Amino acid sequence: MPSFIFPNSTSFHTAKSFFEGHDPFIRDISALLHLDQEPDALAAVQYCVSELLRNVIEHSSSPDGAFVCAHRYTKGSPHRVTLAVADCGIGIAEYLSENYPDALGSDRIAIGLAMRPGITGARPGLYGTPENAGAGLFITRCIAKGTGGYFFISSGDAVYRLRRGLNPESQVELYADPYDETRYDIWELRSSWMGTVVSVEIRTDQIADFQGFFSWIRNHLPQRVSGESRIRFT
Ligand SMILES: Nc1ncnc2c1ncn2[C@@H]1O[C@H](COP(=O)(O)OP(=O)(O)OP(=O)(O)O)[C@@H](O)[C@H]1O
Ligand SMILES: [Mg+2]
Repeated sequence: MPSFIFPNSTSFHTAKSFFEGHDPFIRDISALLHLDQEPDALAAVQYCVSELLRNVIEHSSSPDGAFVCAHRYTKGSPHRVTLAVADCGIGIAEYLSENYPDALGSDRIAIGLAMRPGITGARPGLYGTPENAGAGLFITRCIAKGTGGYFFISSGDAVYRLRRGLNPESQVELYADPYDETRYDIWELRSSWMGTVVSVEIRTDQIADFQGFFSWIRNHLPQRVSGESRIRFT
């Protein structure tokens, strides 16, 4: 199955126009990954790519835009799409630290905060808006985990990986605090990544109703902000 990779500023401008709501790159994902027959899986992939690209545009100050790659696997089991969005920007700790000073001292703390719902480093500016809800990374993590896939994020010297759930029941137990998860690993890089990388695996054979799944997550956002750290999908 096809992969695609768009390094350089082309994808930066593409992401910018997606943010304005009319981006051919996001639409082209369907053709590039041959997902035209799987609209729910396509919607999940489009959501994750667009949120991650938006983060690069809004928060990274990357001089070189975003690097995107994705691959669809259909030969072996499980059928899945893996995707990654990387940038060489300022990293999560620096951007988040203006609102959360603790983030500056530790990339591990910074990425943990960034993954929590309701936490945003966004401030008024060219692309950051008051509408930033601190939801993108949380919902992306929910989608990956909920389909039985993995979620990976690295910024500075910290790397966080959430492995695939062991069974359908555990996949739908979602935690606001990523360090409450049971199947995560965290480690430090010897050479820091100067920027941010997020990689996601989405099990395309596990998505029957993306809109319903998405709405369910969205409906739980206020509860998570008010302190409920464990969310169970029913
Ligand atoms: N590529 C990045 N570079 C620098 N900081 C980032 C990057 N991605 C995320 N962050 C930091 O992590 C925070 C949380 O990201 P998340 O996508 O969850 O929320 P948001 O972008 O602030 O709001 P929303 O996604 O709801 O519009 C961001 O506010 C930002 O501080
Ligand atoms: Mg975001």
